[in-house]
Amino acid sequence: MADQSYTPFYNIYKQVAEENEVDLFFCVYMPVINHPCFDLAWKLGKPADGISTDISIISNAPYKSDPMFGCHANMENESFYDRFNCAIILPLKLFWSSIDLIRDINAKRANVSVDPHWDLRGRVSNLLMLSNTFFGFELSSSDSPLHQEIGPVLPDTFPGLTPVLDSFLANHPRTIYFALGTNAIIYSQNVIIILNAFIKLIEQNVIDGVIWSTVRTDISESLEYANSNVSISTILNNHHPNIHISKFSPQFAILSHKNTKLFLSHGGSGSIHESMYTGTPMLVLPIMGDQPRNAEMLESVCMTLKLSKNNLKVDDIVSKVERLLNEGIFKMNAERVQFLAKVNSKRKYRAADLMEIVLNTAKYEGIKDENGGFKIDNEKLLRDWITPDKRMGFIRGKYLDVYSVAVILLLALGGGFVYTLLTIVRYTYIISRNENRNDQKSLKPKKE
Ligand SMILES: *[C@@H]1O[C@H](CO)[C@@H](O)[C@H](O)[C@H]1NC(C)=O
Ligand SMILES: *[C@@H]1O[C@H](CO)[C@@H](O)[C@H](O)[C@H]1NC(C)=O
Ligand SMILES: *[C@@H]1O[C@H](CO)[C@@H](O)[C@H](O)[C@H]1NC(C)=O
Repeated sequence: MADQSYTPFYNIYKQVAEENEVDLFFCVYMPVINHPCFDLAWKLGKPADGISTDISIISNAPYKSDPMFGCHANMENESFYDRFNCAIILPLKLFWSSIDLIRDINAKRANVSVDPHWDLRGRVSNLLMLSNTFFGFELSSSDSPLHQEIGPVLPDTFPGLTPVLDSFLANHPRTIYFALGTNAIIYSQNVIIILNAFIKLIEQNVIDGVIWSTVRTDISESLEYANSNVSISTILNNHHPNIHISKFSPQFAILSHKNTKLFLSHGGSGSIHESMYTGTPMLVLPIMGDQPRNAEMLESVCMTLKLSKNNLKVDDIVSKVERLLNEGIFKMNAERVQFLAKVNSKRKYRAADLMEIVLNTAKYEGIKDENGGFKIDNEKLLRDWITPDKRMGFIRGKYLDVYSVAVILLLALGGGFVYTLLTIVRYTYIISRNENRNDQKSLKPKKE
């Protein structure tokens, strides 16, 4: 996708930038790296900032990884083999397998006369990169001032409940909200498994209501798959008294309602932020992208249990929902994280301030162009934010030269010490042996 979409997006951005005389580019970094946005800013000499929910691939904490690559989000307690594999082998493999992709993108770049760039992560070093997440949920790490956590970013206002949903929630004090976001798709067989689990949970009186936003789920396909099974068809036709389905629903308002006890979600970042902000425990069914990592992070803060899309079982869902609702620890942790989410959600204003600082810096660092705008060099613009080690090179930057000399000196000193010690020991040994011999010699004549 990154190379297919390069030229069309580049042209759209270019047109917008020209029509509006853009002063600052604010580029979404992931899930597909937005190369054309950063490249265009770089070429036009305009400042660029990036934002993403997950900037762990540009941060320098080796213990952060991703289940997407078969590693754990947090490598803290993994074996040497796994850490070696995830920190060294996998990135090399990834780089190797993306060489063709980078080559393609560079061909596209040449076509719009942008210089080639060989870093798979794009032209983002030395840019302000905002991370839409927060510690307490995300793994903590000490990172460059260029990488700032400013999340969770949430709107000031949300659509309210419709009258139908309002009365449904009022009449169902133990409701599960089920939604898989705007992109995720699951197989019909998994839809049926989830619905059967809902039926069982309602029969066992664990829950008494379900609100399901179907979004991308194809109801007619699921109906066909259900093969005229009465209970499933009743649900899919929206005739079940305890289960309300609609294509879209006001998610934040539903999660805010006190009768919504649990959120069955794919674990996309928008959904998990809303769930944390409203203190709603989650059952997560990760599908793709950043979702498996989010699911692991949520599990580690203990407000979530996880399902596997490849091994979905009715009984597994039922028992996990029972645990989430009956064991108070999940709600307690959801409320703990809720506090963090609420306080940190104010940081969107900080993000806006940071972007203004970048704009203002450009005003002083830039060269005025013919339109009265400013042209800057994104490599150097934020030099006050760039940690000096970036400029010092790998060896000096990591102080490897100093530490190696220190280690050598220590070894030499240690070696010298051991050598001296050995010499002394040997010397005393020889002396004492000689003395013994002398003693024996001097004893012998006496005996004789
Ligand atoms: C790793 O192990 C330590 C010590 O047992 C524990 O405190 C910590 O929570 C563990 N971390 C993870 C991510 O499991
Ligand atoms: C180069 O760009 C032009 C339009 O800007 C496009 O028509 C053409 O297909 C591009 N060539 C390649 C090799 O991408
Ligand atoms: C519908 O399907 C579920 C499980 O898939 C089964 O337990 C139930 O008996 C079925 N109902 C009918 C009427 O076939």
